[in-house]
Amino acid sequence: MTVVHTISDLQTALSALRQQGKVIGLVPTMGALHAGHASLVKRSVAENDVTVVSIFVNPTQFNDKNDLEKYPRTLEADCQLLEDCGATFAFAPSVAEMYPQPDTRRFSYAPLDTVMEGAFRPGHFNGVCQIVSKLFDAVQPDRAYFGEKDFQQLAIIRAMVKDLNYSLQIVGCPIVREADGLAMSSRNTRLSAEERKNALKISQTLFESRTFAATHSVADTCEFVEQSINNATGLRLEYFQLVDGNTLQPIQAWDDTTYAVGCITVFCGDVRLIDNIKYKE
Ligand code: PAF
Repeated sequence: MTVVHTISDLQTALSALRQQGKVIGLVPTMGALHAGHASLVKRSVAENDVTVVSIFVNPTQFNDKNDLEKYPRTLEADCQLLEDCGATFAFAPSVAEMYPQPDTRRFSYAPLDTVMEGAFRPGHFNGVCQIVSKLFDAVQPDRAYFGEKDFQQLAIIRAMVKDLNYSLQIVGCPIVREADGLAMSSRNTRLSAEERKNALKISQTLFESRTFAATHSVADTCEFVEQSINNATGLRLEYFQLVDGNTLQPIQAWDDTTYAVGCITVFCGDVRLIDNIKYKE
């Protein structure tokens, strides 16, 4: 695997490969890679001739300076994991490389980006679209891989691809969980041993709510999740919303949609964790 730091080095290498007819997969990441990322990379390696994994902690998508500063950075270990997964290139640019000047572009995909993460993290998805579009332009991949843990992000990236006429396929990949059920996240490394125990209640609640939902209304299911998290030790619920998986708008009844997803954000200490579960698909 080759590690490159500049867009021009990456493009020189990729254009030679593209001329040979190689199919290119891109896995955008912010590093601190775990088994969830590895599953995206392995899928890209299986489906493409060349896999580029970007590692870039994107400042424009952080609306909390503290969160940006504390975001784990583990480039050496990341490169080892990517090598083991069979990636072709790790692309690890500097902030100046990706943003030689402030990005003044504004992306708006209302109502997809006005709810949930969009409401609680103003500007977050604008920053995501800025960096992901820059990565698409730099790499020009045939396919790009994103995890379903960031369910709303995936929907917004699909909308951006449609809006900007990118000719690439977006591949959504299932959430990877720890053996006990906690959704894998780079932020999990920031949990203390006690917080890690407390965090388990998030996925447990979601799994239990799916059983509960089979015999209860949407409103009762929301209340079930809210109460379970509010009564749990060391957790603070930011939101739980039951939405249509395509429009991301809240549903009132199960019959409102054929694709129902519950999206949750919980603070465990000062670590903000997200997860989601499908009730109907
Ligand atoms: O999901 C992430 O890790 C980031 O939002 C992404 C897609 C790499 C953009 O910075």
